[in-house]
Amino acid sequence: MVNFETLPNRKDTRSLKWDRLEDMFGSKDIQPMWVADMDLEIASPIKSALIDRINHGVFGYTLTDDQLNDTVRKWLIKQHNWEIDPNWLIYSPGVIPTIHMTILTQTKPGDKILIQTPVYHPFHSLIKSHQRELVTNPLIYQDGRYTIDFNDLEQKFKTGVKVLLFCSPHNPVGRVWTKDELTKVVELAEKYNVLIISDEIHADLTYAPHKHIPLGSLDSPISKQIISCFAPTKTFNIAGLQVSYAVIPDKELRNEMVNAFAKYGMNSLNTLGITALEAAYQSGNEWLDQLKSLLLTNRQLVEDTFSDRDEINVVHAEGTYLIWLDCRKMNIRQSELKSFMEEKAKVGLNNGITFGEEGRGFMRLNIASPTSYIKEGLDKIIYALDHFES
Ligand SMILES: Cc1ncc(COP(=O)(O)O)c(C=O)c1O
Repeated sequence: MVNFETLPNRKDTRSLKWDRLEDMFGSKDIQPMWVADMDLEIASPIKSALIDRINHGVFGYTLTDDQLNDTVRKWLIKQHNWEIDPNWLIYSPGVIPTIHMTILTQTKPGDKILIQTPVYHPFHSLIKSHQRELVTNPLIYQDGRYTIDFNDLEQKFKTGVKVLLFCSPHNPVGRVWTKDELTKVVELAEKYNVLIISDEIHADLTYAPHKHIPLGSLDSPISKQIISCFAPTKTFNIAGLQVSYAVIPDKELRNEMVNAFAKYGMNSLNTLGITALEAAYQSGNEWLDQLKSLLLTNRQLVEDTFSDRDEINVVHAEGTYLIWLDCRKMNIRQSELKSFMEEKAKVGLNNGITFGEEGRGFMRLNIASPTSYIKEGLDKIIYALDHFES
């Protein structure tokens, strides 16, 4: 039986979420609800596989093989109805390293790379770190829901964008893009010859009736121009094991990426990452089903908590375990919103502005923890709203 009720003690485990509170929020007395990992124990089949592998006692260099490819292939069919050729797979320690490598191999300094803001904060910094030009296509936020501004996207593509860095499902706004939306994205990319990096790390975490559709699975002539990035790390809470993969149908593009990873000495995975990936995809389904039901409970709790509060609106998450809180009606500056959460409510959320200018007035809340823990954090926010001048 999966235990999602007990909060694991993660303090002093070199946890980014728990052991950097003072640096991040200026105090240790903060309830962390920020970085995207879960305060939940992993699935027992993964744990057993890791223990068995550790008991083997030898940890030399690794390789990936047909058996692993086949496990991934079957996962993509079962979860996302996408039949890939296993030869299209390449592995990497993370989605972010794959994005870096794509930028390095497929663009040059000054080239335009487009993101749809507000979006996962490293997208901004990694483009700038390579001296590429960051182009934004802000999402439209209307009636509490985000959509893509296709007119603006086309205008921006016309200016000579080389790469679209696409986030699907979208962090932090929680959208699971529909087939219609995805089709329009690919059609425009084809028309303007734009390469797409499709970051689908949150693919497995969607809530009915919303269903993730891999961009590369669309029947389109440019599916060859898509690098689709996936990982078991968000889904199964194994981010510290650093394992991910990309699906790249085009042989030339794939070889360029493989050679680049080799050039930078990043062409093998760590033993435990491989072991966990395989166990997760072969035997993690029961745990994943229960996780989704916990996340649904927690999402409901957040929505109910703020349903009769004017100050904070909850953007309904169709996927991901990240909830985007619209706090604009609090009518305070971003720095005051941050201090309100940290100093008055004593909760550590992600600051909306780090996701782009469009995140001003917003905060991101991580709900992948036991329900009692989420409730405790929400109670603190409500108490602060009721007792302090914001
Ligand atoms: C959209 C998105 N991409 C990538 C990552 C990180 O990927 P990785 O740890 O595989 O580099 C995250 C983590 O939160 C994310 O939300």
